[in-house]
Amino acid sequence: MEIKEAKFLMSNTKVELCPAPDKPEYAFIGRSNVGKSSLINMLTGQKGLAKTSSSPGKTQLINHFLVDNSWYLVDLPGYGYAKVSKESREKWRRMINYYFQKRENLTCVFVLIDSRHEPLQPDLDFIDYLGNMGVPFVIVFTKLDKQSAAKTDANIAAYEAKLRETWDELPPIFKTSAEKRIGKDEILAYIDEINEK
Ligand code: GTP
Ligand code: MG
Repeated sequence: MEIKEAKFLMSNTKVELCPAPDKPEYAFIGRSNVGKSSLINMLTGQKGLAKTSSSPGKTQLINHFLVDNSWYLVDLPGYGYAKVSKESREKWRRMINYYFQKRENLTCVFVLIDSRHEPLQPDLDFIDYLGNMGVPFVIVFTKLDKQSAAKTDANIAAYEAKLRETWDELPPIFKTSAEKRIGKDEILAYIDEINEK
């Protein structure tokens, strides 16, 4: 699948104000600066569609994009940024928790993880949280271009080993680079497959 048209619809803090839940919805989340907005731009082929920034915490709201008039793509604010106040963190937690619980058309969550790192607790905690809630999700490793393939594979293997300590089954895993446009076809094929069902 190639995306023909993607347009920004709206930004919200409240699920009630999001677009009508009449189309399948795919949400992107992960630590601040992991590359969520960049990945959305790669998938849609529109460089400036989701706002990116080299400083973490750029995305603060639930941002809806309409793709080919048939599904929603959502850019969510990241977690795990140390400089965020306790109050803002709590606000994020409440907003995200409510979104995951109430958004009835939520079809799959893409959890982005920076492939440069060995397993990080905030990522493991977030995956456990989604798993325990029964939200369907996949894992996307980002920024493959930043290190050797061997290092990437070692980090992914370490994450998988950590997750196996808690979970019998691992979710689908994708490897990407927004910089080098790696992983686009695989992710779009996955979304297409679900949409066709
Ligand atoms: P927040 O909205 O702040 O949570 O960040 P985000 O997860 O949306 O990250 P964003 O897409 O804004 O990217 C953060 C920084 O990482 C930017 O400087 C991007 O250019 C850079 N970046 C994102 N993806 C890649 C990638 O695949 N490779 C490289 N080299 N840099 C990337
Ligand atoms: Mg962002």
